[in-house]
Amino acid sequence: MGVGTPWWRSAVVYQVYPRSFADGDGDGVGDIGGLRTRLPYLAELGVDALWVSPWYPSPMADAGYDVSDHRDVDPVFGTLAEAEAMVADAHDLGLRVLLDVVPNHTSDEHPWFQQALAAPPGSPERERFLFRDGRGRSGELAPNDWISRFGGPAWSRTVDPEGRPGQWYLHLYSPKQPDLNWRNPQVWEDFERTLRFWFDRGVDGFRIDVAHGLAKAEGLPDVEELTWPLAPEVDADVEHPHWDQPDVHEVYRAWRKVAESYPGERIFVAEAWVDRPHRLVRYVRPDELHTAFNFDFLVAPWRARRLREVIDGTREAHESVGAPPTWVLANHDVAREVSRYAREQPDTPLRSLDDLAGLPGHLELGTRRARAAALLLLALPGGAYVYQGQELGLPEVEDLPQEVLQDPRVRQTAGRSRGRDGCRVPLPWSGERPPFGFSPAGASAQPWLPQPPSWAGLTVGAQTGDPDSMLELYRAALRLRRTHPALGEGGMRWLEAPEGALAMARDPGFVCLVNVSASPLPVPDGARPLLASGPLDPSGRLPADTAVWLSV
Ligand code: NOJ
Repeated sequence: MGVGTPWWRSAVVYQVYPRSFADGDGDGVGDIGGLRTRLPYLAELGVDALWVSPWYPSPMADAGYDVSDHRDVDPVFGTLAEAEAMVADAHDLGLRVLLDVVPNHTSDEHPWFQQALAAPPGSPERERFLFRDGRGRSGELAPNDWISRFGGPAWSRTVDPEGRPGQWYLHLYSPKQPDLNWRNPQVWEDFERTLRFWFDRGVDGFRIDVAHGLAKAEGLPDVEELTWPLAPEVDADVEHPHWDQPDVHEVYRAWRKVAESYPGERIFVAEAWVDRPHRLVRYVRPDELHTAFNFDFLVAPWRARRLREVIDGTREAHESVGAPPTWVLANHDVAREVSRYAREQPDTPLRSLDDLAGLPGHLELGTRRARAAALLLLALPGGAYVYQGQELGLPEVEDLPQEVLQDPRVRQTAGRSRGRDGCRVPLPWSGERPPFGFSPAGASAQPWLPQPPSWAGLTVGAQTGDPDSMLELYRAALRLRRTHPALGEGGMRWLEAPEGALAMARDPGFVCLVNVSASPLPVPDGARPLLASGPLDPSGRLPADTAVWLSV
């Protein structure tokens, strides 16, 4: 990173999913106390910052993405004072802290929504959300054809105090997550207050949940046959009625000003599932957000041509607005990459194992590819995110019993989707059996999702010091990334490489070679390996599904 380059242009940010990171008080759910004791682990891992998924008061209908108070901490995670202490501890260790802001919806238990339910149609209380009369003779049909991301209609009907069916309200997610009305100035004011509340407490920025969802088209027109993402044949500039509406950018222009009124480079990262790069980068224009996750990279199957297309498309688009790309392989919403890559790779985007319709997995293969993908991820120009457990090579837990599943998607799809719990299983830290140090010795409760006994070999303790482990690969790569002048933000170019291989050169003197094909790949003459995701073969060639960083 060049002298004077803002930190976030090349940062590696570690995602903490607090309920599954570390349990300090022994109730089986991770908390801020647990997180504080593990901060030295993150500092030593070599990341620059952490992003903490929501810790706000919540009925937990969607694991905390249903917020009932944006400016406090849920007792299950701790107290506001502990949250402040955590931010201070992290700063002392040289780690920055991003929180998660959830502006598209609140919980149905948020006081605003309770007030709206108690108030009549047309009232100012209802104006903060999207209440509408139903269609049909007696309003018995939903106001439009929108579908919830979790399955089923995006509208639920209210019942008035006399027990009569009333208006409908919009929820793009679960019925317990009513969408806010971003045409209402009170909503704007309240979120600016929330940003300031946390900025005042020293946080360095926010990940913005559903950043592409806030603005809805005037009149809430039917979606009709449009899908999301838009089908490839649909014209690039067709507007979807509720995703990626142009008005959403006004919000981020205002938020950027809030961030800039604070000292020390406070930043945003957009969670915007917008798969056309020229539309995604509208979120990171100079007067808007700083960064946006690149989900095209995450969902790309392990195929050289597709990876290269995604990398080129992303870089080109980001260059056009002067923003750094943000690379990501995993998060709490998608199947873990070890398990995604463990299957025969489709031609189409790959996000959950539901997409793979029962294809058997080979975890050894998936792990080999995930190791290679880690070196690709950390060699690309720009910033990167690492989801907790990615550095341990955790696989998706595919056999969680149906009765422990908590993701609302499972219920809303009547079990057709297995949901996202399989990537949210509590981390294994140490020891031979569950809870693997996730909870303290003598804890009163089991981890909120059961850990597989087979994780004994994947704990932080088991991997530490083992040069062949995923954890030591990440540690070594992050160490090199910090010191090697070619890594982080900057340029790159492709070198000529056989079909099925990626050869990326970065100045000065760095090449990342990734073998995505089945046949071994020669390593350029005179190149010195700095770090490899697996051993070279006896004749010095790079085997299939392996990557190497070279000094040239
Ligand atoms: C994206 C979050 O990452 C996900 O976990 C959540 O369910 C939805 N947004 C709704 O808030």
